[in-house]
Amino acid sequence: MTAPPPPRRVAARPSQVLRSIGAERRIADPCTMVVLGASGDLSRRKLMPALYQLCHDGLLPDAFELLGVGRDAFDDDGFRQMVRDELGKSDELEAVDDAVWARLGPKLHYVSGDFADAQSYRTIGDRLTELEQPRPADQRNRLFYLAVPPSVFEEIVRHLSQSGLAPKSDGPDERPWRRVVIEKPFGHSLATARALNHLVLELFDECQLFRIDHYLGKETVQSILVFRFANAIFEPLWNRQSIAHVQITVAETVGVEQRGGYYEEAGVLRDMFQNHLMQLLALTGMEPPVTMNADAVRDEKVKVLRSVRMMGPAEIDESVVRAQYRAGRIGGRDVTGYREEPMIAPNSATPTYAAMRLFLDNWRWKGVPFFLRSGKRLAERVSEIAVQFRDPPHLMFGHETRKLLAPNTLVMRIQPDEGISLSFQVKTPGAAYQLARQVEVAPVAMDFKYRAAFGDANPPAYETLLLDVMLGDATLFTRSDEVEAAWKVVDPILDFWDAHPPARMETYEAGTWGPTSAHQLIAQNGFAWRVPDQE
Ligand code: BG6
Repeated sequence: MTAPPPPRRVAARPSQVLRSIGAERRIADPCTMVVLGASGDLSRRKLMPALYQLCHDGLLPDAFELLGVGRDAFDDDGFRQMVRDELGKSDELEAVDDAVWARLGPKLHYVSGDFADAQSYRTIGDRLTELEQPRPADQRNRLFYLAVPPSVFEEIVRHLSQSGLAPKSDGPDERPWRRVVIEKPFGHSLATARALNHLVLELFDECQLFRIDHYLGKETVQSILVFRFANAIFEPLWNRQSIAHVQITVAETVGVEQRGGYYEEAGVLRDMFQNHLMQLLALTGMEPPVTMNADAVRDEKVKVLRSVRMMGPAEIDESVVRAQYRAGRIGGRDVTGYREEPMIAPNSATPTYAAMRLFLDNWRWKGVPFFLRSGKRLAERVSEIAVQFRDPPHLMFGHETRKLLAPNTLVMRIQPDEGISLSFQVKTPGAAYQLARQVEVAPVAMDFKYRAAFGDANPPAYETLLLDVMLGDATLFTRSDEVEAAWKVVDPILDFWDAHPPARMETYEAGTWGPTSAHQLIAQNGFAWRVPDQE
């Protein structure tokens, strides 16, 4: 029998590790990516840097073309110049390498058009035929990326279908393929999300649809699955017997910036909870999937979301808090309050912070509170999942010891300073016991940092997600039933809030850890929010 190899430091990127655990290595298919909204903010800030990075890493297929579509009147050269300028300004990239740009630049093309006009889709079709001409017919794959506001989603998908650019597929093996990427927000409520699902599933097959939640593209979010299911030591503890409660925090220091118009309509529940926090909840609470394929993983996530205990008005009132930031200081500078931001109503009741206590009614989690919080203009930018274990049942170190105990806590840090830490108690060195018959204990932590183990190798979320669309792997995208299950959690809260506007909106000072009522909420269960900086 050969001994297993000793553990060693791996030089591969975590995403490669995940993929090699889950599936054989594959190469992205030849394809043309059509970006609808190519001159917009998302395309400039996220998609183009991600494509550049894919090209830099040698992960784009050789036969790859990009066709940008937008209202701005660029020709191909003008579009390339715009993209080149934006890459130079991007904070996602360290520098733009001329050799990489020399490979990527000629692959970019552009047509201008109005998304409401059928003629635009004929123009797109003509250009696609021209670009795809050198490839055999079964390699003329097309990826349509809707980098546009939700108000035009429906119109665009109808045109893509009616024009024949993206007909409904017979299944995932059909070649050439047609895939459609839809950005968040997916719907504005459960009813509108259902209607949008109904429409897209009438026009396309689920295997063609890739609903983006960029949190799923973050390395550390994917790593939750590996941490939980590629280690045998934590899973036996991952349940109501050992865990006292779970805290999920997505805290931002930014305000609403230039997105006031959108945010006034959305608020923190639609902007962050329906998608990112529900995904973190699902990954933390899910059962082990049978395999690492898209449906197996998503089946388990949907089960968690469906197990969230539905709350009636009284429970919502008790278990969910909302608040809005007022002026304060962040990072040594004064920042304005939400109501003073551009495009925000001076009496706006849109919450920029929410915290809630949820329960999962299933065997694993019955009775364990999950506390979720997210807000803008908080003290630190930090996203983390903290799992707090139960206290030991009996302590024989002297009656004062219990007061000194800090609960065992496992923290998965999503960003920044990505890593995983586990805190536990040790004896403080010294003769205190002999002197006072009292063992002195202190909490310490085992702390794993991605940066120390792997260097700065985390690819941006959009790079991972774009590659997965080209590979046809939907594991990191939300399925129709999953989107609806997440809406079912937040929809009753939104309805309750609409029906009961606060007499006076609770506020929190920018640069703090949120409103008083959020601290009271968790204190009702005998716990306190972590202050990540000080833990
Ligand atoms: C987006 C929200 O989905 O996520 C933004 O619309 C938010 O309001 C952003 O700022 C946070 O993403 P990240 O990757 O910076 O944590």
